[in-house]
Amino acid sequence: MIPRRRIDLGLADVTDLIGALGESCEAAVDQVRRFEAEAANRLGGTPVRATASGRDTLDLILGALGIGAGDEIVIPAYTLGELVTRLQARGLRLVAADVDLRSFCVTPETVARAISPRTRAVIALHVFGAPCDMVGLLDVAGRHGLPVIEDCAHAFGASIGARPVGASGTAALFSLEVAKPVATFGGGLLATSNPALLAKAAEALDRRVHAPGAVLRKVLLKSIEELAVRSPAYAIAARMMFRERQAGGVEQLYRGLHDRVRPDQVAFSGFQARRGRRRLQGLDARNRRLNGLWRQIAAALPPQLQPQQREMHGQPAAYNFVARYQGDLASLRCRAQAAGLDLAIHGEVLDDVAPLLGQTDCPGAASVYAQAVGIPLHLGVGDRQVLRIAEILREAVGP
Ligand SMILES: Cc1ncc(COP(=O)(O)O)c(C=O)c1O
Repeated sequence: MIPRRRIDLGLADVTDLIGALGESCEAAVDQVRRFEAEAANRLGGTPVRATASGRDTLDLILGALGIGAGDEIVIPAYTLGELVTRLQARGLRLVAADVDLRSFCVTPETVARAISPRTRAVIALHVFGAPCDMVGLLDVAGRHGLPVIEDCAHAFGASIGARPVGASGTAALFSLEVAKPVATFGGGLLATSNPALLAKAAEALDRRVHAPGAVLRKVLLKSIEELAVRSPAYAIAARMMFRERQAGGVEQLYRGLHDRVRPDQVAFSGFQARRGRRRLQGLDARNRRLNGLWRQIAAALPPQLQPQQREMHGQPAAYNFVARYQGDLASLRCRAQAAGLDLAIHGEVLDDVAPLLGQTDCPGAASVYAQAVGIPLHLGVGDRQVLRIAEILREAVGP
């Protein structure tokens, strides 16, 4: 089975984890400051703070901007569904902006249509590492005097011209979850050149408790998942679980487990910071390798599968490989699964949040969601697997 995900967990991580359990609070804070400085360096000098998760970062940004109950914000119609629940719990009113069928990103035109006199901020997502049109979006938002929050959850290492993504909006959020370009077993980053915003977020972050054991549960969970995914039993289990025609089983289980090990009030740990520093060092090489792999897969796909266009507005980071398929996704997945290829479909890839908001004016997001097929893109995929993926997909879609 070619699994959809692979978690990189090396000996250095295990040694670090054991070392970090007895680490003093001062030593941990020193590591975190170093990681933040190195991440800031990667973002062209934009100041950075480490947080508990991408979602936590978004909360911190909105809180620091004074955006709360009753305020309206524009979000991409194609994004992580859990963000909606979380933002609505803050009392925010959400308006979805539709996405482009090629890039899967919001556009200046769709965002302009979603802005109203009540709008207080715009969230722009670089979907699956593909930069969105930040120049156009900043122009539209600027005309209304609105801050732009860059959602860089998938996009560490992407750039727009010479500028790294995350460095041109009012503030940016990064996710450091397990499969993300810089993965530290959970965690997030807040990047902003706005000193007042940074100071307010820092006030909240500096009150958090140091609990180095908290990340241990996550590492254990991920290690079990990694072993499970590599075992032959996974192929059998996956085939059984994906027999249903609707999407979701495994992914819902995965999302649920991870949300339970997501403590917002715990400070970023020394272990995560050390791991983050190593991941930053290898980021360009990994992005080069995975972007190369992405192009190889794209070139080998049957024409019925249309890959996301990732280079419309900048240089992408490699996160997920997602293509649109206009046939029957559930049976495509079943056939691929039977042949040993673990595909993700629909909400296992990302969500169409417009229906959750009662909107029917986002046909782009509806189509992308309905047609989205996630193809494995990770360092466990080599040249042989690329050929195998293409072969399985050609057979699964038919003539
Ligand atoms: C588009 C998007 N934004 C934000 C997040 C939140 O990141 P985290 O899982 O670290 O809270 C995710 C997570 O995958 C995401 O996909």
